[in-house]
Amino acid sequence: MNIAIIGNGGREHAICQKIAESSKVKNVYSIPGNGGTSKISKNIDIDYLDFNKLYKVIVKNKIDFVIVGPEQPLIKGIVDFLKKRRVKVFGPSKYAAQLEGSKSFVKKICKKNKIPTASFKICKKISEVKKFLQSNKLPLVVKADGIAAGKGVMICKKQKEVLNFSEQIFKGRFKSSKKLILEEFIEGEELSYFSIVDKNKITFLGSAQDHKRVGENETGLNTGGMGAYSPAPILTKPLEKKILNKIIKPTIKFLKKKKKPYSGFLYTGLMIKNKNPYLIEYNVRMGDPECQVILPRLKNDLLNLLLASENNTLKKIKIKWKKEKCMTIVLCAKGYPGEYKKNLSLEQLDHLKIFEKMHIFHAGTKKLNGKIFSNGGRVLNFTMLGNSFLNIRSKILKKMRTFNWKHGFFRKDIGWRIL
Ligand code: AMP
Ligand code: GLY
Repeated sequence: MNIAIIGNGGREHAICQKIAESSKVKNVYSIPGNGGTSKISKNIDIDYLDFNKLYKVIVKNKIDFVIVGPEQPLIKGIVDFLKKRRVKVFGPSKYAAQLEGSKSFVKKICKKNKIPTASFKICKKISEVKKFLQSNKLPLVVKADGIAAGKGVMICKKQKEVLNFSEQIFKGRFKSSKKLILEEFIEGEELSYFSIVDKNKITFLGSAQDHKRVGENETGLNTGGMGAYSPAPILTKPLEKKILNKIIKPTIKFLKKKKKPYSGFLYTGLMIKNKNPYLIEYNVRMGDPECQVILPRLKNDLLNLLLASENNTLKKIKIKWKKEKCMTIVLCAKGYPGEYKKNLSLEQLDHLKIFEKMHIFHAGTKKLNGKIFSNGGRVLNFTMLGNSFLNIRSKILKKMRTFNWKHGFFRKDIGWRIL
């Protein structure tokens, strides 16, 4: 089969590598891909949000199956668009992708189905925010409705912060929506629970924990993720049962009842408080960098799994895991998540000898005249499998220090909670 993978991050490099290993694969195309995917697939540099252009590329290259990495094309309706044109594609419909695209959509489902989540109020104007502040205690979480690349959420300890951030949202700082959600702050431990879903089955696809803050000891600005590890030791069998029965199953059942069944990856972001799960958010894709620590642990042929979801035959597949654990640490360009430089040379990558069971996934890189340059804030994901997180981390850090990229920085405390 000819496969196309949409996206250009570390997640897509990890997917591309795993797909390329499948015996069913003839050609893999990465649209647009990055420096890493250019070595194992053919990169096609087009704007994938231009669906008509994308469709032409799909027809021209006789692509049999499309795998969508990031959320924007899903929320914009890429699956509906391609299915209408009889292209096989993995991922949720535009309607179902609202699970990530609209926080108010999710909150309404939670309310109707008694799904445990932070108590909340949807506000459309500042007077509603002021009224809510009178009767609720701080801290409060203010969230822009719609997607905002991880920047639309602020945990506010002071009334003034709530009002300032709310004003910015109402003024349209986050273009996708001018609505906001005020939410109770839940103190607990975060957990990411992944599944792959079709009409008939929800299959567990690993757990992970990531580190969103840019600085060590969880300080500084929020980022897309500075590192992650899988599996997450906090996930016990009784907790998993609660997550499925109280949160994921009611959500999937609700969509099915609406005749809009869910299909694709489902990333459930949770806060665990007193051994009970609360839904923080859904994402309709794999996490980045969580995907990079889950796929190396998976024994199954990933293409078979994704095709089964598209065919609604997931229940025929049993997931098999390697015994090993996995961790990744992200090498970022100095300045990230604020301003940072691009086009910085990564030439020494060619000479870096890596350990067995180590993968370096490219995130923000590109290939130019045969050489690799940086092309984003999160540049490389140093990833490794092993038997102990402590060992894995020390080997990754050793390799990152040897690499010694003068334009970059990374956190040395990934996994502190479990080490
Ligand atoms: P979200 O975009 O909804 O995932 O929020 C980004 C991050 O903000 C989450 O990963 C949490 O760390 C934090 N967060 C969001 N909502 C809450 C909440 N209700 N209580 C505590 N922390 C939260
Ligand atoms: N690492 C968080 C995310 O992918 O949303």
